[in-house]
Amino acid sequence: MAIPMQLFSCLVFLLFLFGPAAANEQGLKVGFYSETCPRAEAIVEKIIAETISVAPSLAAALLRMHFHDCFVRGCDGSLLLNSSTNQAEKNAIPNLRLRGFQIIDKVKSALEMECPGVVSCADILAIVARDAVVGVKGPYWEVETGRRDGRVSNLTEALQNLIPPFANISLLKSGFAQRGLSVKDLVVLSGGHTIGISHCSSFNSRLYNFTGKGDSDPTLDPNYIAKLKLKCKPGDEDSIEEMDPGSFRTFDEKYYTLVSKRRGLFESDAALLDDSETRAYIQSHANINGVAGFFKDFGVSMVNMGRIEVLTGTMGEIRKHCARVN
Ligand code: HEM
Ligand SMILES: *[C@@H]1O[C@H](CO)[C@@H](O)[C@H](O)[C@H]1NC(C)=O
Ligand SMILES: *[C@@H]1O[C@H](CO)[C@@H](O)[C@H](O)[C@H]1NC(C)=O
Ligand SMILES: *[C@@H]1O[C@H](CO)[C@@H](O)[C@H](O)[C@H]1NC(C)=O
Ligand SMILES: *[C@@H]1O[C@H](CO)[C@@H](O)[C@H](O)[C@H]1NC(C)=O
Repeated sequence: MAIPMQLFSCLVFLLFLFGPAAANEQGLKVGFYSETCPRAEAIVEKIIAETISVAPSLAAALLRMHFHDCFVRGCDGSLLLNSSTNQAEKNAIPNLRLRGFQIIDKVKSALEMECPGVVSCADILAIVARDAVVGVKGPYWEVETGRRDGRVSNLTEALQNLIPPFANISLLKSGFAQRGLSVKDLVVLSGGHTIGISHCSSFNSRLYNFTGKGDSDPTLDPNYIAKLKLKCKPGDEDSIEEMDPGSFRTFDEKYYTLVSKRRGLFESDAALLDDSETRAYIQSHANINGVAGFFKDFGVSMVNMGRIEVLTGTMGEIRKHCARVN
């Protein structure tokens, strides 16, 4: 009797260690598709690796896309919906610079071939964001899945919910807090600006007309202002600038060095020096050799972001085409 009992507890213990992960309180879990579409993540990984080897700049665009989906109506794929009257989230000004929708469509078609009607567009955005970061030498993290797709996409909601580049620290903190994200998540996820580009329109006022008197932003390094002015002439909205000059195609922690030197491109980047907790994080990650701490933090914060107001269970739908409701 004693032996089978020990065997039994041993099995229970092993199940606890290696059994299927339980869904968290949002209803998401790592490996949601392991039975219903076992090759889903491998298929996404392959397409994104190929995409980035051909067009490295898309990594940044695909990371940003998941962020912009999650901050408006939660991570429900509503960013991807088309509107015949151009009233969808993607038609809102802050989303007009998003790129890479066709890559999401490509991933979706491949997954529909493999297992029709199973993998949501919202989950595709989350997995793609991870693989995009991995593709530019950033961290890997386990993506929770099990999101379903929302049916509503509203331009006004995008305008109201996407934080503008001129946000100050109070707006940034409250915007993150509203969505269950911490001050640490704010400073860690802002590190996403280690890759990618910006259009002059997002920071031009810092160069030429900061308070409406033809002045520039005193919190921005004057040498950097001079350099930016060469690229962005007054009124220029469309020229582009690297956000992390020198390594905008590598996911590293140079962003924090730049911000600490008052070379963060947006007011929202500079504002991270105005709070003791975010400032401390920046200072401890500036000029540090080794990205391990930031990499680990980034994975944790991306998982947190991926939990915002998700639809699970029988809510929403699994779309056949990410751009239109079934
Ligand atoms: C904290 C508030 C944030 C603000 C105000 C903000 C603002 C912006 C702006 C204005 C741009 C440039 C758009 C353009 O002119 O083309 C941009 C680009 C970008 N953002 Fe953010 N962002 C924020 C947070 C984040 C987060 C949380 C992530 C991801 C974790 C992220 C990832 C990116 C990336 C990768 C780009 C480059 C996009 C590209 O190369 O196409 N941002 N952001
Ligand atoms: C979009 O959202 C705004 C703000 O919440 C709301 O006033 C408006 O009625 C919504 N539009 C549609 C078509 O539902
Ligand atoms: C931050 O920005 C908000 C909205 O633009 C504004 O209402 C608030 O007064 C600003 N706070 C500080 C401390 O500047
Ligand atoms: C600077 O801003 C002020 C106030 O918003 C505006 O009246 C003025 O036309 C702007 N100047 C330029 C050169 O854009
Ligand atoms: C959505 O709109 C884009 C651009 O407006 C277009 O290229 C795409 O084919 C549309 N997708 C669907 C499914 O209607």
